Parts: sequence; structure tokens; C-alpha cells
Amino acid sequence: MRILITGGTGMVGSAFSSLETDHDLLLYGSSAYNLLREQDVCDMIYRSHPDAIIHLAARVGGVKGNSDFVSDFFYENIVMNTNVLETARKYNVSKVLSLLSTCIYPDNPTYPLTEDQIHNGEPHKSNFGYAYAKRMLEVQTRAIRQQYGLNYITAVPNNIYGQKDNFSLETGHVVPAMIRKLYDAKLKNEKVEHWGTGKPKREFTYSKDIARALLLLVENYEGAEPINIGSSQEISIFNLAGLISEIIEYDGDEIWNTDMPEGQFEKPSSNEKFINLFPNFEYTPLAVGLRETIDWYVKNYPNVRL
Ligand SMILES: NC(=O)c1ccc[n+]([C@@H]2O[C@H](COP(=O)([O-])OP(=O)(O)OC[C@H]3O[C@@H](n4cnc5c(N)ncnc54)[C@H](OP(=O)(O)O)[C@@H]3O)[C@@H](O)[C@H]2O)c1
Repeated sequence: MRILITGGTGMVGSAFSSLETDHDLLLYGSSAYNLLREQDVCDMIYRSHPDAIIHLAARVGGVKGNSDFVSDFFYENIVMNTNVLETARKYNVSKVLSLLSTCIYPDNPTYPLTEDQIHNGEPHKSNFGYAYAKRMLEVQTRAIRQQYGLNYITAVPNNIYGQKDNFSLETGHVVPAMIRKLYDAKLKNEKVEHWGTGKPKREFTYSKDIARALLLLVENYEGAEPINIGSSQEISIFNLAGLISEIIEYDGDEIWNTDMPEGQFEKPSSNEKFINLFPNFEYTPLAVGLRETIDWYVKNYPNVRL
């Protein structure tokens, strides 16, 4: 299959390069085609003649990035998504798989997060711009399926980490920010301050596992319902810091500032539907994925996204 991948220069997109596959993968970033421009999207699809599209491109960020730039996150995501899906439909691309995120689920869901709950209430106020744009991607996918009978699907990963992540302390997610903080502290021989108690638990999935899961879905999944694809293994933020410190070999002081806010205690998601479909799918253990990510970071530092 000839598969066009938007967001091909990002963390998840670049993980496809490490997979062994017979598919012909066309990976594009924004310098090849700016998906905010409809004409670029037309050119990209017309020139590529894809059998399928995996739509990953997005404006992505952590809590601070999402709330400081809430309007930009809404606008850029909704425009990119609308352009990609509508143009794919016009060119009759038979399959499009788009990526959502567990952080678009309602603020007060029933845990574990199951796919039927995506639209059941307001998302968290810190990221409502991103969340509603992503929810509309799910709506547009369903609408195209219903009206045009095209096999468009959506998948929902939880927190992803891996090579080529955004290691900014301002706009990055927890794993890359923690890697950067601890590695900087090791280089400068300084102590590290973490926010909160470290007690909340989170699930993390390696970018290469997400890429493998997405290829399986493009090949085999035809359901109208979104499908959760992340690992359901949880770890506390305190233990995550311990694991990263151990791999980085940081042995300085780590302070937990309990005056600072931390999120909900747990946000478990259910990947039961995915695992029922692909019972042999194995997730990379967190310690293994983190070691590969940190090795990559150290090797490429400071030429990484800081
Ligand atoms: N990271 C996570 O923890 C996480 C969790 C759940 C879901 N997701 C979803 O996974 C997908 C991939 O995320 P990621 O972490 O790989 O993001 P990322 O590393 O920030 O990469 C974003 C990608 O989108 C492209 N892009 C951004 N604006 C564009 C534009 N105007 N035109 C064309 N391309 C544009 C970027 O291209 P350039 O770099 O070339 O500009 C880059 O390839 C996203 O849909 C995201 O919502 C991510």
C-alpha cells in the first residue's frame, strides 16, 4: 500500500522510519506542505496518489502550551484536519486514519476511559481549544463515512514519548521535560525541583508502538468507533522520575514541591477493544523505551527540540 503520513517529521511520524514494512511510506512535514493551506493539501494528495493516509499533523503541546495558545491550538488543528479530510474525500482516498488523544475525553469521565465517552461532557478547561478541534476530527470522520461510505477511522493514543519529542520545559509533555531537567541538572551538578507530590499515576506509550499500532489499524480496522491504542500500564510520576534519574545516572537531590499543583490522581484508559482485535500486540516496557529515548537525546543534545 502507498501510505501518505502527515506530521511525518514529528515524534510519532518519524517513528515509522524504524519499522520494517512492505508499505511505501510517504512522510511529509510542514516545509513540504503547509496543511493550513488548502492548495498545499490538494497538491500533496494529488501528487502522492495514496491508497491510505495516516493523519498525524497537529499543533501539539503540554498543559502550558495548550492553555497559553488555546486559540491557536483550536484554529490550526481544526483547519488542518478539515483540509486533510475534505480533500482526501474529494480525491476519493479510500482510507484515512486520524489520530485523536485521550486528553480530549471529558473532564469528569467514568474511568477507565472508554471510546464511547469522548463527547460526554466538557473537556478540561486547560486544553479545550485542542480538545474540541480533535473531537470535530472524529465528527468529520463519522460524517464522511455516513454520507460517502469511505472507510475513515480514528485512533486514540494516551501520553506518547520517544525520539524527536519536544523537550521544551515550557511547551513539552512530562516525559521529555523530565528528561531535559534531569540531564541539565546532571551536567550542571544541580538539584532538581519537581512539581507536586509525585503521587498521580499516568500511562505512557512509546512512539514506535503507536506507529506499529497505526499500521495494524490501516491494514485491518474498519470500525466507525474510535479505538484506544495506548498502553494501559500506569506509573506514578515519582517512580517515573526515579526511572529517568537511574537511566541518566543523575544522583543529585530531587525535591518535590508540594505547594505546586498536580493533576488528577489517575486517568486510566481501556485498550480492551484494541487488544481483543490484536491479542499478540506487545507494548515496549517503559524502561526499555525510556532508555532508547534518553540514549537518542544524549547523543543528539543540544540539537534537539528544546
Ligand atoms: N505527543 C503526545 O503525547 C500525543 C498524545 C496523544 C496524541 N498525540 C497526537 O499524535 C499526533 C502526532 O503528535 P507528535 O507528538 O508526533 O507531534 P509533533 O512531534 O509536535 O509533530 C507534529 C507534526 O505536525 C506537523 N505540522 C504541524 N503544523 C503543520 C502544518 N501547518 N502543516 C503541516 N504539518 C504540520 C509538524 O511538521 P514540522 O515539524 O515539519 O513543522 C510535525 O511533523 C498528533 O495528532 C497529536 O495530536 C500526541
